[in-house]
Amino acid sequence: MSTYTLDSATSRATPTPTPTKRVTVPAVLKRKGGEPLVMLTAYTTRMAQLMDPHCDMLLVGDSLAQVIYGLPSTVPVTLEMMAAHGAAVVRGSYRALVAIDMPFGTYEASPEQAFASAARLLKETGAAAVKLEGGAAMAPTVRFLIERGIPVIGHVGLTPQAINVLGGYGARGRSDAERAKLVADSVAIAEAGAFALVIEGVVEPIAAEITQKVACPTIGIGASTTCDGQVLVTEDMLGLFERTPKFVKKFDDLAGRISAAVETYAADVRSRAFPGPDQVYAARD
Ligand code: KIV
Repeated sequence: MSTYTLDSATSRATPTPTPTKRVTVPAVLKRKGGEPLVMLTAYTTRMAQLMDPHCDMLLVGDSLAQVIYGLPSTVPVTLEMMAAHGAAVVRGSYRALVAIDMPFGTYEASPEQAFASAARLLKETGAAAVKLEGGAAMAPTVRFLIERGIPVIGHVGLTPQAINVLGGYGARGRSDAERAKLVADSVAIAEAGAFALVIEGVVEPIAAEITQKVACPTIGIGASTTCDGQVLVTEDMLGLFERTPKFVKKFDDLAGRISAAVETYAADVRSRAFPGPDQVYAARD
């Protein structure tokens, strides 16, 4: 249970953190084959505060491109954007391990480029780990980062940063060649030292095979319960968007509830029902 203190500077209640230790990388590794890991995306302090008590890991995903910035893909996301949102999420969380996506173009050229980008993200945000997309070609980079103190989460299958190569966001692993490549990519990233592996948009038997073959926990998104944990884009599972990928379960209808609340607000303003006596400052107490 969270308790709250009134922040007199902002007149808002903010959660009082109960002294606690953050989930660590070794603790995540120990969950392989155990209780499923719970991960969601977070981009802002307030959402992090609300999700932190329930999640093992918060991912500052580059999906903020579409969710926050209305961009058409994750390709335009910058290190500056990830650093600003990463720091906000770390400020709003006390328990969950916070991982940040490395944006497209900030890590693929060389292990050295990746180290400079990842070190900057960790220094400027206080996050514990980075996530990067790609298979065997990225394995030397994953090893380079880990040997220099930067924990890495891999991301295979549907890798949205490669949209211009993939040509669409469909499920992966439907042909034998794709299956063999997905498994080899996953094994390469895990053997390079990744402490977790996101598997996105992959048919169930391959997600199961990968989970069985890699030593680190797998985190599925559209990859079935055979994975060692699950992640979703929070705004998708809250029902903020009318249309979402097949693998999203809507746990609420935030779009409907926000529209209804704003409609009521607009009606109250127009009829002068708002502000009412409770919201008006009296001349004297
Ligand atoms: O950017 C993101 O939110 C992600 C998750 C969907 C895994 O990479």
